[in-house]
Amino acid sequence: QQAVFRQDAQFGVTKFLKYADFSGITANSHLFFNYAEFTKQAIFNNAAFRGRAEFMNCQFKHYAEFKRSVFYGQTRFVKSNFSDVVLLDESRFLLGRPDFQKAIIADKEKLSGLGDIKKEFKYISVNNIMSSLRQTKDSLEIKLLTKAIKISSLAQIEVMKAIHGEMTEREVQGIHEFIYRKYGAAHEGYNSIVGAGANSCILHYVTNDDINIDNQLILMDLGAEYRGYTADVTRTIPVNGKFSPEQKEIYDLVYESQEAAIKKAVIGNTFNDIYLESIEIISNGLIKLGIIDDAKDARKYYPHGVSHHIGLDVHDPGSRTLEKNMVITVEPGIYIPGKWGMRLEDIVVATENGPQPVNHVNHHLVVLDR
Ligand code: GLY
Ligand code: MN
Ligand code: MN
Repeated sequence: QQAVFRQDAQFGVTKFLKYADFSGITANSHLFFNYAEFTKQAIFNNAAFRGRAEFMNCQFKHYAEFKRSVFYGQTRFVKSNFSDVVLLDESRFLLGRPDFQKAIIADKEKLSGLGDIKKEFKYISVNNIMSSLRQTKDSLEIKLLTKAIKISSLAQIEVMKAIHGEMTEREVQGIHEFIYRKYGAAHEGYNSIVGAGANSCILHYVTNDDINIDNQLILMDLGAEYRGYTADVTRTIPVNGKFSPEQKEIYDLVYESQEAAIKKAVIGNTFNDIYLESIEIISNGLIKLGIIDDAKDARKYYPHGVSHHIGLDVHDPGSRTLEKNMVITVEPGIYIPGKWGMRLEDIVVATENGPQPVNHVNHHLVVLDR
C-alpha cells in the first residue's frame, strides 16, 4: 500500500479533460480525479472500476453518465458539481456504497441506478486508447514538461556549484531532490541515478550508496516530476572540477554525438535515424582515439538506445517515428568498462521549425571549471 497516492500515469488529468468519453474503461488501480473539469459529456459506459474511484472537486458541466458500470471498490464523488444529470444506470456497486458527500446534484430525481443488478459485463482495456493519446503533447503538457526540465536543469547547476570530494553519492542525490522540492516538484519521476567512478558504467544504478566520490567522475541522471510530468536529464562531471585529458576527449565526443543527434530529431525521422547519427560520431571518434579498430565495436562502449518519449512516465508510450509535438530524450553515452562512463541527456520537442531543446539552460551546459 502506497502511503501517498499517485495517479496511475495512464490517467493524466490534462488529456482527460478533453476525452471524457470512455466506453469500456477498465482500471485496476485507485483512480483519483481531482479538480478535473469535464466540459463535455462525461460518459463512462461499461466502465469497470476495480479499485477505489474518487471524483473530488470535479465539475461535470453536462450530462454525466456512468451507465452499465461496475464499481468494485468504494466510489466517492465528494464536492463534485453535477450541473446537469448524473445517471448511474444499471451500474453495480460491488463493494462499498457510492458516496456523494457534499456533491451538488442538479436534479436528484434523475439520479438512478443505485440498485444492485445482476448482469454480466465485458471489459476492454483502455490502455491502448490512453497510450495513443499520450504520444504527442499539447501545449499545457509541454508547459508542464518544460517546468519539470527547468527544475531538473537548475538542480544540475546547483550541484555543480556545491559538489566536492567529501560528499557521498547520497548527498549529491539529496541536493538534486532538495532543489526539486524548492521549486515545487513533489517527486522524482523515476529512481535517481547518481554514480561515481565505475558506478557510472551501470546504466540504471540506483543504490547511490558509495561514500567515496573524491577525484571521480560522477554521472547524474535525474528528473523532477511536476504535476505528473517527468523530466529526464543527465550530466556527467568531474567531482573535483577538472577532467583528465582522456576524460575530456571522451566528453567532447559524447557532446558532439548528442549535438548531431539532436539535429536529427525532426518530424518524419525515426528513433533509428537519431541513433545512427549518434553512433556514427561515436565510432569514428573511438577509432580516432585508438580505443577501437572496427566501427562494429562501438556498441561495446555505447550499449544503449538514444531516445525515448517522456511525459507522464519517464518512458512514455509512443511511435518511433517523430510527429509534431512529440517530446523525446537524446542521450548518447560512452562507458569505459570498470573505469567510468559518461552520458549526456536532454529533452527535445519535434516541431515544425525543427528540433527544439527544452532545457532552460543551454542544453550543452557543461561543467564549471574550478
Ligand atoms: N533515466 C532513465 C533513462 O534515461 O532512460
Ligand atoms: Mn532517458
Ligand atoms: Mn535518464
